[in-house]
Amino acid sequence: MCGIVGYVGFREAAGVLLEGLRRLEYRGYDSAGVAVKVNGRLEVVKKAGKLQVLAESLKERALPGTLGVGHTRWATHGAPNDPNAHPHSSEDGRLAVIHNGIIENYLPLKEGLLQRGHVFASETDSEVLAHLIEEKYQGNLYQAVRLALQEAHGAYGLVVAHQDSEEIVVARTVSPLVIGLGEGENFVASDVPALLPYTRRVIFLHDGDMAAIGKEGVRLTDLKGNPVQREVVEVDWSLEDSEKGGYPHYMLKEIYEQPWVLENTLGGRLREESATAELGLKLDPARYDKVHVIACGSAYYAGWVGKYLIEALARVPVEVEVASEYRYRDPVADQKTLAIVISQSGETIDSLEAIREAARKGAGTLGIINAKGSSITREVDDTLYIHAGPEIGVASTKAYTAMIAAMSLVAVWMGRAKGRLQDQPAAEFTAELRKLPRLVEEALEERPEIARIALKYHQASDYLFLGRHIQAPTAYEGALKLKEISYIHAEAYPAGEMKHGPIALIDEHLPVVVLTTESPLYEKTVSNIQEVRARGGRVIALATKGDSEAKKFAQDVIYVPRTHHLLAPIVSAVPLQLLAYETAVCLGRDVDQPRNLAKSVTVE
Ligand code: G6P
Repeated sequence: MCGIVGYVGFREAAGVLLEGLRRLEYRGYDSAGVAVKVNGRLEVVKKAGKLQVLAESLKERALPGTLGVGHTRWATHGAPNDPNAHPHSSEDGRLAVIHNGIIENYLPLKEGLLQRGHVFASETDSEVLAHLIEEKYQGNLYQAVRLALQEAHGAYGLVVAHQDSEEIVVARTVSPLVIGLGEGENFVASDVPALLPYTRRVIFLHDGDMAAIGKEGVRLTDLKGNPVQREVVEVDWSLEDSEKGGYPHYMLKEIYEQPWVLENTLGGRLREESATAELGLKLDPARYDKVHVIACGSAYYAGWVGKYLIEALARVPVEVEVASEYRYRDPVADQKTLAIVISQSGETIDSLEAIREAARKGAGTLGIINAKGSSITREVDDTLYIHAGPEIGVASTKAYTAMIAAMSLVAVWMGRAKGRLQDQPAAEFTAELRKLPRLVEEALEERPEIARIALKYHQASDYLFLGRHIQAPTAYEGALKLKEISYIHAEAYPAGEMKHGPIALIDEHLPVVVLTTESPLYEKTVSNIQEVRARGGRVIALATKGDSEAKKFAQDVIYVPRTHHLLAPIVSAVPLQLLAYETAVCLGRDVDQPRNLAKSVTVE
């Protein structure tokens, strides 16, 4: 994902920026650029491709100067070419902007700017910030950025330099930014590794924070201009630790990345005015009268959630199947079938072969994929990237919730195109989708309670997970996470089906996780819980905040924020990931690389 570095001090900025960006390379990117103040003028060099390409250009065109900003970009809006690379300059070239995240209202902002005569050099949402700040600038960069951010909404880690300013101005909402404090020099970066060669004293910005960074000091305020105080933290991380963002495992880091990953998946694709999703796809959703969803592992469960979403919002019948079965069963697909393949890696061979099979039958093919340019993306008619960034932990976490978010977008896109999703429910659903990043942040706050529950039950030899309707796949994903990384045997069942078999397993040793979030089937799920309680089973309920009943029928309750019942699988996946994680840690398992599993399975 995109990396940010900014520097003000006494060293040659270009060297600091390049070194910092190198240390963020592991996040993945496809273009890079820097802006450095040289003799009172901002000079920008930016290139598609790897940092080496940028470094070569900087050899030919040296940028001596001690204030600068640098960026590695992982393309979301617009192709990975030179003009779309950051920094983005204002038209007068006096200021340069670097931005991670998505400006959700960039289209109306851009229209306004175009009407006022601005000319754009790129296809990015980020460039609107350069023009907007330029308009607001009256000699004070900090004020100009602050005023621009009253109009621009969305997610941003924003870093701005101006040739008349001795300070860099930064702001954060959702996308992380960390300030590094030095002596006679200060830094900013999207991630700690970029700072480690120079300083270990850092300030992590919070949502809604702004800062003006000069070489002798840093001023912190909120977006209204009120001063704020933030703790200075001494980081004692090794480089490897810092790649994990200070978390002990990649999996935990990735669990915590979900708020901004969801912002990446959804942001810029929802159209508030028309309550629809604009996915930039060539495929015409109105053409298809059935959908086949093909995937493996966690992606399969995300696809199963997608079935409920598409059937509810677009009223199109959906079949979901694991790819290894689909590819060999001569599926009934034709030109009126849209085949959707979901894959984090884009390399899973069964998924690839299955989508080839659907294409041979004439189906339209859509990939919901994380890894850019992966094999599946080269074979499908269209790809909807989930923009989750590199996922290193073998057990999928952030990619899973991002896949469901992407399937929600597909459901809205189909429902609207087919005229089956009316204005009012569309507006309600898309408004709830928008809230997801914040809700997931709230869900993460339950970690201490989840850790307590994990400890209480970590010696169980089996676990059962139950859920109904759109929460049935969540139960399966919860069980999969637990068995993958803790090696505890876990089984999942649709709650209503439990009485036809698994009920025989229930005794006082079996923890049973039941998904009882608000839904039209709430009452029925609660009666399924009574069946577990009556047989001495230990119930861990996952309930919606404010549900005062849950405590009465469950020994332990994990609360999740209220959302649209069709989006409950996203907020509910988070505590189940944490439950698996905390259990595996109690048992001393290799969380990031569980035995026998591979991140990307390229054999049959
Ligand atoms: C492997 C991984 C799973 C993943 C599955 C599908 O089994 O261990 O975590 O869900 O492959 O991978 P994909 O890259 O296609 O999403």
